[in-house]
Amino acid sequence: MIFSRSGKRRHATHRPRGQRMEEAAAATVEQESALIRFDNVSKRYPGGHEGVSNISLEIAAGEMVFLTGHSGAGKSTLLRLIALLERSTRGQLHVNGRNLTRLQRRDIPYHRREVGVIFQDHCLLHDRTVFDNVALPLVVSGLSHGEVGRRVRAALDNVGLLQREKSLPITLSGGEQQRVGIARAIVSKPPLVLADEPTGNLDPELSREIMALFERFNQVGVTLLIATHDLDLVRKLGKRTLVLAQGRLVDEGLAHG
Ligand SMILES: Nc1ncnc2c1ncn2[C@@H]1O[C@H](COP(=O)(O)OP(=O)(O)OP(=O)(O)O)[C@@H](O)[C@H]1O
Ligand SMILES: [Mg+2]
Repeated sequence: MIFSRSGKRRHATHRPRGQRMEEAAAATVEQESALIRFDNVSKRYPGGHEGVSNISLEIAAGEMVFLTGHSGAGKSTLLRLIALLERSTRGQLHVNGRNLTRLQRRDIPYHRREVGVIFQDHCLLHDRTVFDNVALPLVVSGLSHGEVGRRVRAALDNVGLLQREKSLPITLSGGEQQRVGIARAIVSKPPLVLADEPTGNLDPELSREIMALFERFNQVGVTLLIATHDLDLVRKLGKRTLVLAQGRLVDEGLAHG
């Protein structure tokens, strides 16, 4: 016997109550554990070309996942949809509890703060110090001067560049500049970090260092999605790997996950 919302009693004819509650709990956990969910998502660029076509996938909170595929396969497009740098043109996309397909303009800044983005060419401002570059995402957040300083130094410490806060990016090596870009992406402590070919310009040794850094973030609970051509590195790390070809997901890598 169970009670409906109206308070009327009705008989539970199908399954015992305990079982139903377990099923409900499992459904809730499943919903919450998918940090990213694509349901038949496509992105058609102006002019008609589809960057990604009919993508369905899920990434759970706490996963570290690689994204690979030929040049033009749609890796950057997929990341840009998640970061909301592009809008999907079909399907449903949920990220961190938000339906991005229906997101209001005023909610976009909140979403952006929760997604750290790292680009191959790190996009640093060359007339600003390392400190100022990393502080950029915090400038609009209304934090006090002291709090900004504390967070920027924590982020720089994380990537091993605390001593270089006053330097200009041009005086740093390629690997160090990439690490400044990473510090900037994590300074607002986003639960999700996206990286688009983060080691594309680095030699194998530096690439390994960057990946070790990502693994450390992952160990403290950050979810990461990393687009890369570096299949050797991906194989060594043994993480789930999504493969795109001509805008379509051709392998979800579930067997490795
Ligand atoms: N702004 C745009 N307008 C029109 N077409 C675009 C745009 N951006 C990307 N595309 C097209 O969408 C497809 C996917 O591009 P995308 O940049 O996502 O590929 P990618 O897998 O990141 O490639 P790469 O490995 O070279 O970075 C390509 O055919 C590309 O030409
Ligand atoms: Mg790309």
